[in-house]
Amino acid sequence: MLHDLFRFLRRWRWLGLAFAICLSVILYGVVVLSQQPVHVTMLASALDTAQERHIIEAFEAENPDIKVDVIEGPNASNLIEDLYTSSFLLGSSPYDLVMMDVVWLPKFAAAGWLLDLSDRVSEADLSDFLPADVAGSRYNGKLYRLPIRTDAGLLYYREDLLQQAGLQPPDTFDELLAASKQLQQANATTWGYVWQGRQYEGLSAMFLEVLAGSGGFWIDPETLEVGLDRPETLQAIEFLRRTITERVSPPGVTTYQEEEARRLFQNGEAAFMRNWPYALPLTNADDSPIQGKVGIKPMVHAESQDSAGCLGGWGLGIAKSSAHPDAAWRVVEYYASQEAQRSLAIRNGYLPTRRSLYTDPAVVQEHPYFPDMVEVVESAVLRPPVAQYAQASDILQRYLSAALTNRMEPQQAMRAAAEETRTLLRRYSAS
Ligand code: GLC
Repeated sequence: MLHDLFRFLRRWRWLGLAFAICLSVILYGVVVLSQQPVHVTMLASALDTAQERHIIEAFEAENPDIKVDVIEGPNASNLIEDLYTSSFLLGSSPYDLVMMDVVWLPKFAAAGWLLDLSDRVSEADLSDFLPADVAGSRYNGKLYRLPIRTDAGLLYYREDLLQQAGLQPPDTFDELLAASKQLQQANATTWGYVWQGRQYEGLSAMFLEVLAGSGGFWIDPETLEVGLDRPETLQAIEFLRRTITERVSPPGVTTYQEEEARRLFQNGEAAFMRNWPYALPLTNADDSPIQGKVGIKPMVHAESQDSAGCLGGWGLGIAKSSAHPDAAWRVVEYYASQEAQRSLAIRNGYLPTRRSLYTDPAVVQEHPYFPDMVEVVESAVLRPPVAQYAQASDILQRYLSAALTNRMEPQQAMRAAAEETRTLLRRYSAS
C-alpha cells in the first residue's frame, strides 16, 4: 500500500514540479504588472510639448506609478483639433488626456467626448482661477477642463530702436505704420511689423484684435448677429493690407504662424510683432540677438477706439473613452496646481490661470511685468463661444486669407463670409 503511494508520487513528481513553476511564473507576472506604471496619453503641439517637458518630468518624478506619453502634433491649434476630432469620431481614440484650446471646449463637450469633472472640483478649488478661464472650461453648467494657461495677444516692440529714433511705442494703427516706416527709412530695421497671416486659427485670433480695435465685432454670442460685413471689418482689413502694400510687413507675412513671426523678430529683422506672451522669455533669452531690447504693450487700435487683446489659453480635460480616468485626473490636477503653473510662468512666461501667481514673489522677480498682465487678460476679447466655432473660424480664415492675398476684393469676401456664417448659425439655432 505504502509502496503504491511512493510509486504514484514518483510518477507525478515532475508534473507537480511543472505546476509549481507555472504558478510561480504567473504570480510573478501579476506582481510585476501591478507595479508597472499606468500610461496615459496626450496630444499637444510640438512647441508646447518642448516647452512643457519639465512639467511632465516633475509630475512623473512625484508619481512613479503614472507615465505620461505625449504625442507631438503640429503647431497650428486647428490642426491638433482636427487630430483629436477624427480620433474621437473614429471611436478608437488613444488619448486619455485632452489638451484643449479654449475655443474647442463647446464643440468637444457638446459632442460628448469629455468626462464631466464637476464632481472632482469644488467652487473653493476654483476660487483662485481667473473667471474667464473658468467660464471657458464650462459647458451647460458642467466643468470639462481645468485651465492651465491663459493667453492674450500683445504688441512687441524694440525698445532700443524706438529710443534711438526718439519715438514712443505706438498706440494706434497709424502710429505703428508711421513708426515702422521711419525706422525702415533710417535703415534701423528691415521690416516694421510681423504678425500671423497664414490661413489657420491664429489668423482668426489676430484678426479679432484688429477688428475689436476698429470698433467692430465678429459674432455676438447672445444674439448670434454677425458683424463681418460691417464697415469696421473692412477698416480692419484695410489696416492689415496696408502693412503689406506699404512694405511695412514682409510679403510672406500671409504665410506666418506665431513661430515664423517670432524668429524674424528675434533675429532683429522687425521692429514690431504681434504675438502671445510665450514669445517674451524666448526673445529675451541669453542666445537671443535682441536680449534686453524688447518691450510689450497692449495691441494697437484705431484712433478713438480701445485696445483689444484676444483671449486665448489652454486647459486639460479627460477623454470620456479613457480607461484610466483617475490617473489622468492626477495629471490634470498637477498641471493646474500652483507649483506647475509657477514653473510654467517662470520658465516659459506662460500666463497662469491662477490670479495669485501674478503677484507671486518668485514670478515677479523673474518677470516684473506680470502684475500688469492681469488687466490685459481680464479685458481680453473672446472668440465667440459657440459650438460651431470651428466652422465659423474656418469661414473667416478662408475669406480673410483671400482678401489679404488679393484673391478676392475685401468687401466681396466679407459679404460672402458673413452670409456663410449666418447660414451656419441659423442651422445651429434651428437644431
Ligand atoms: C495660442 C492661444 C490659443 C489660440 C492660438 C492660435 O496658442 O492660446 O487660444 O487659438 O494661439 O494660434
